[in-house]
Amino acid sequence: HHFDLVIRNAHCATGADTFMADIGVRDGIISALGQGLASGAQEIDAKGAWVTPGGVDGHCHLAEPIKGDVEMADDFLSGPRSAACGGTTTIIPFAVQQRGQSLREAVEQYHQRAGQQSCVDYAFHMILTDANQQVLNEELPALIEQGYTSFKIYMTYEDMMLSDREIINTLAVAREHGALVMVHAENFDCIAWLTERLLAAGHTAPKYHAQSRPMLVEREATHRAISFAELVDVPILIVHVSGKEAIEQIQWAQNKGLKIYAETCPQYLFLSTDDLGGEDDYEATKCICSPPPRDPQNQAYVWDGLQADTFSIFSSDHAPFSYADPKGKQAFGDKPSFDKVANGIPGLETRLPLLFSHGVMSGKISIEQFVQITSTNVAKMYGLYPRKGSLSIGADADFIIWDTETQRTIRNANLHHAVDYTPYEGITVNAWPAMTFSRGTLLWNQGEFVAPQGHGQFLKCGMPQPAKPKVHSQPFKRQEAQHG
Ligand code: URP
Ligand code: ZN
Ligand code: ZN
Ligand code: ZN
Repeated sequence: HHFDLVIRNAHCATGADTFMADIGVRDGIISALGQGLASGAQEIDAKGAWVTPGGVDGHCHLAEPIKGDVEMADDFLSGPRSAACGGTTTIIPFAVQQRGQSLREAVEQYHQRAGQQSCVDYAFHMILTDANQQVLNEELPALIEQGYTSFKIYMTYEDMMLSDREIINTLAVAREHGALVMVHAENFDCIAWLTERLLAAGHTAPKYHAQSRPMLVEREATHRAISFAELVDVPILIVHVSGKEAIEQIQWAQNKGLKIYAETCPQYLFLSTDDLGGEDDYEATKCICSPPPRDPQNQAYVWDGLQADTFSIFSSDHAPFSYADPKGKQAFGDKPSFDKVANGIPGLETRLPLLFSHGVMSGKISIEQFVQITSTNVAKMYGLYPRKGSLSIGADADFIIWDTETQRTIRNANLHHAVDYTPYEGITVNAWPAMTFSRGTLLWNQGEFVAPQGHGQFLKCGMPQPAKPKVHSQPFKRQEAQHG
């Protein structure tokens, strides 16, 4: 046979265009696109179904140590499995530095945690919580050099946040060494002040989580982060943007010509403050994440931002804590005060089907936009393109054959993470991957998880596209006209 695998009659969609083609795969790589390709050892007729590049999830949390007696439900086995079943073939979880810990040690710890378990390819972002001189001047530059080219910083959470000066110092290192900084933008002191007042008034239910972190605290921190990026002259990515006032800040900056990139997540399209429940609804801890889900007008604003390309990427921010679990959402009892509840919701598996169904199939965004924000742009953002995020010749044969014929209702019982709930329970979707391939190997086949054990490989990231230096002014020179 000429190919290891041929997908016939694929309705291909990339970030740029759509076309009908057969896809020929050899040694895990797309080696031909064309009509009437020669035979493959394995042949699959896509019968005109959509085929898109495998999803790249640029923001998910797995097996992170949490303070106190709290644990994440997903590790490097269950998280990647869940990703694959929802069409995601590359994930970028975080290696978290504890304060006082060396960054290098943190990264090595995560490699150990990952072991050989992952069924999808993975890279690491770092989370920088201790921006001391040793870390900034030595460890960080060395790690960037070695393929860890992006890292997240926090403007809130007492045990993780950096001061303004530390943020500025950190941005300067990113600028000098060509890394991309992801910013969690919420104002810590505003949240602390509001939380104190709510608790003093006896307001502890999940709904007060949203009142303790209103849009204002996100808007302020977003503006501040933008200002620091402008000061230092470095691109940044504002992660998990939740609504109008933060979007306005980002659009203002983008219109000024600043390289401010933005990410949003399914929870800001599909969940709202109503999901944080009423006065005594503690099951609503299931939807506690930060920033919190907002109201329907803000959801509409996020959709508009996707349509207008304000957002470059759409990530799950998968942060898995089981509900009925003394190490999960109920680590502080079954009626925990909102400020004690572990922040985050699961979403690795549902990210692509939700957006394909409610974005593409409902006509809100084009299929090219879908591919851009869920795959191509993510790969570019983190230096994995064109190996990932593309259906071009020479790219890894990571793709999804979509089933858009079957209507499904999202049920946690059908998902593959280790979390005991999904916040999207009961939502219907008209799209789900029929097959997910990673480097030509089937991971998910018509409802069955079939990935070979430990198929996933660690990926070193190249320079993030936003950090690529501008080509400096060698102005284009024409041959001077010769005058007599
Ligand atoms: O609530 C959230 N989003 N938890 C995950 C950690 C983070 O800040 O992204
Ligand atoms: Zn053969
Ligand atoms: Zn965050
Ligand atoms: Zn996150």
